[in-house]
Amino acid sequence: MNAADVTTLNRYFGIPEQVNFKDGPGGLTVAEVTNSLASATIALQGAHVMTWAPQGESPVLWLSRAAKFAPGKSIRGGVPVCWPWFGPHAQEASFPGHGYARTVMWEVVKTETLADGATRLTFRLIETAATRAQWPHPSEVTLMVTVGRTLALDLVTRNTGKEPIVIGDALHTYFEVSDIRNVTIRGLEDCPYIDKMDNGSRKRQEGPVTIGAETDRIYLDSSADCLIEDPGLKRRIRIAKRGSRSTVVWNPWIEKAAKMGDFGENGYLNMVCVESANAAEDVVTVAPGGAHSLQVVYGVERLP
Ligand code: BG6
Repeated sequence: MNAADVTTLNRYFGIPEQVNFKDGPGGLTVAEVTNSLASATIALQGAHVMTWAPQGESPVLWLSRAAKFAPGKSIRGGVPVCWPWFGPHAQEASFPGHGYARTVMWEVVKTETLADGATRLTFRLIETAATRAQWPHPSEVTLMVTVGRTLALDLVTRNTGKEPIVIGDALHTYFEVSDIRNVTIRGLEDCPYIDKMDNGSRKRQEGPVTIGAETDRIYLDSSADCLIEDPGLKRRIRIAKRGSRSTVVWNPWIEKAAKMGDFGENGYLNMVCVESANAAEDVVTVAPGGAHSLQVVYGVERLP
């Protein structure tokens, strides 16, 4: 099916008052999801969740005010899907950083309403000659997005070939915060990490993470829940995950954000990426006929 044809998409996958496909900014097709629990928007390019907020709550995902929406360009904010590698490709410098999944089209497989009133959409990456040139391994990747009081994402890689495959992946989520300088991230205490700001040197996290400068770290062996405590918004975002052994914490700070050109003025102050990943030595081998599932559940808890 032509994934960009919103009339056809609505005929097959629209749910009255709940899931509506429309032409979004920059010619991107988006699914608008609204139910009694939450609202969200998802671009078919990249199966990219751009916004999510439980009803009555301010946005939980940060979407840059200066985000650029264009075919083939990753959107700055929301939940980019990094797959089938994380960061630069190990051998081919010309291949896109964080893989190609976030910049190619995905198709809608299913939309459904769950018993609790949440809405679930399932997407599958569309393979093309261009994707096969970069990833010549028979495989299938799907993303299940469940929009409710929590936002649940399940990125499943199936190995449909006869050889094992090795994947890196990440849900590269940008979270909205009132002021990064006052935010505390818990759950990474004592984890070893690779400090990309210090030539990739290995360190160990002591105490909770706070950010006051450019920060780019891959925490290894980190499977515990992460908590983003934001006294300004009086809330704590809980990140619970399965099938993810790495956690990437990233904030570009002033100079890098300015160079990137799609952060907006002072945008870096209102975001932090806490990415549920399998990166560096935590990459995953998927056996022939097997599958790997990277799952996250994001929820909001009130602080006194
Ligand atoms: C993070 C990486 O995951 O993503 C950073 O650790 C990188 O090194 C950042 O700068 C943003 O990447 P991109 O490709 O979306 O600009």
